Amino acid sequence: MNILVTAAEVAPYAKVGGLADMTGALPKAWGAAGHDVKVVLPMYGTIDADKYSLTQLEGELTVPFAGHTEQATVLEGKLPGSDVPAYFIRSADYYDRPGIYGYHEGFEDNDRRFIFLCSAAFELAKALNWSPDIIHAHDYHTAMMMPMLKITRQSDPHFANSAGVFTIHNMAYQGTFDPQRAMTFANFNPDEFYSGCWHEQDGAFNAMKSAIMFADKITTVSPTYAQEIQWTPEGMGLQSSLQARGSDLIGLLNGIDPSVWSPEIDPFIPVPYSLDTIEKKIIAKTALLKEGGLTDAAIKHDLPLFGMVTRLTEQKGLSLIIDSLEEFVADNRLRIAVLGSGEKRFESYFNDLSRRYPNNVLVGTGYNEPLSHKIQAASDYYLMPSKFEPCGLTQMFALAYGTVPVVRAVGGLNDTVHEYDPVTFTGNGFTFSRYLSGDLRDTINRALRVYKQRAHWDRLRVNAMSSHHWISATAEKYVEVFQWAKERYS
Ligand code: ADP
Ligand code: GLC
Repeated sequence: MNILVTAAEVAPYAKVGGLADMTGALPKAWGAAGHDVKVVLPMYGTIDADKYSLTQLEGELTVPFAGHTEQATVLEGKLPGSDVPAYFIRSADYYDRPGIYGYHEGFEDNDRRFIFLCSAAFELAKALNWSPDIIHAHDYHTAMMMPMLKITRQSDPHFANSAGVFTIHNMAYQGTFDPQRAMTFANFNPDEFYSGCWHEQDGAFNAMKSAIMFADKITTVSPTYAQEIQWTPEGMGLQSSLQARGSDLIGLLNGIDPSVWSPEIDPFIPVPYSLDTIEKKIIAKTALLKEGGLTDAAIKHDLPLFGMVTRLTEQKGLSLIIDSLEEFVADNRLRIAVLGSGEKRFESYFNDLSRRYPNNVLVGTGYNEPLSHKIQAASDYYLMPSKFEPCGLTQMFALAYGTVPVVRAVGGLNDTVHEYDPVTFTGNGFTFSRYLSGDLRDTINRALRVYKQRAHWDRLRVNAMSSHHWISATAEKYVEVFQWAKERYS
């Protein structure tokens, strides 16, 4: 199958969160399974062309845009560890600036930047004389490929048999654009925007809604989230559109790449370990605490270590943490190592806590890939009390590293973490349902009780480490959806 993946983030080149992990890992898995995959992303100013051995393709790409054409150059590389080609759209006007989206509010011209990317991806496929069976778009950034396919591209024999599949990673970012601008940039007739049309939501152009309506099939990143977005406020206003497409919407759980996230081969951790040598985690724990400035005497006083690696946004349950964490720290019942970047108020909270409890709270800021691996290996528990969580990858990394997740049972957390039952010895973590700090507190207390109960603790870690969510299985399920999407074209 010919699969064209277009996204705003692709690991390892450009990453803010889990979207990049998935758009990096899925194409590799499809490539390994024999599919012809091409990945397209912007050439951001932050991508180092030399580091990834990117070479510039000959000539320029002429991209239809806003009723005229614009030029872009294209660089090509291979997704590291694979033969899958990645194409980088270079345009000084749109991408050659620091940052992917722009700080917090986003760049003002994100509509223009990402609609241009969508149009360029179609044009690149044509320039390569390659007809995709599947056009796979991700989140609001490349959502516009779905209406573009149906409105302006399907009449081109090149795309006559291409099916559009749209994957929702997060309903919280919908791409709410000015209608006049969005219709013009996309080369749609502005008169075809009206109240009640497929692009419209609350008077604005909504890229995500448009993709939901125009895609042949829609996927989202966990089965629970697929239900939540249709039937609860997690649909963030698009519930009825999602219900309307309910028979074409499916939740496929994300997976993780074992060549990147496996404690047996992880180059960032002090010693490799496996299920049989899980006791070696203590070496990673000691090393992290040392790196965090704790003295040998302090380290000797063993306390359970909680880890967090996260974007610091309300989504991740930070209000609950602010309400409940300090009492555990003040009573010297646990330590926590946090790596996060995002909203200043949350960064300040952790920095302040760390100043007051330097032996209990370790904080890393900025984006730090090696430290993210060290925290997963070093921690006893992984804390993720999300307000909502489409899937979540970090709890899956935690499981793979024998680190016990303590989570709120929403979205993908509900599909991957199951409460440990001391009677049957089943379950791989600790969960709670209501978004209440008291419930988080009770759950941390339940989790802490098991730490000293050797038989339960050993079993729990084995259960965690035996919960597999590999990308290869996820990739296969996507191919089934792609075949299903193609049915109407065969
Ligand atoms: P989300 O996509 O909502 O941010 P996920 O759990 O799906 O949540 O994925 C987050 C990804 O980003 C993981 O790969 C995680 O390790 C990574 N990550 C988050 N914050 C940082 C950071 N400060 N440094 C390094 N990696 C980070
Ligand atoms: C989003 C979600 C996260 C998910 C990731 C990858 O950023 O917040 O839950 O794991 O996308 O699909």
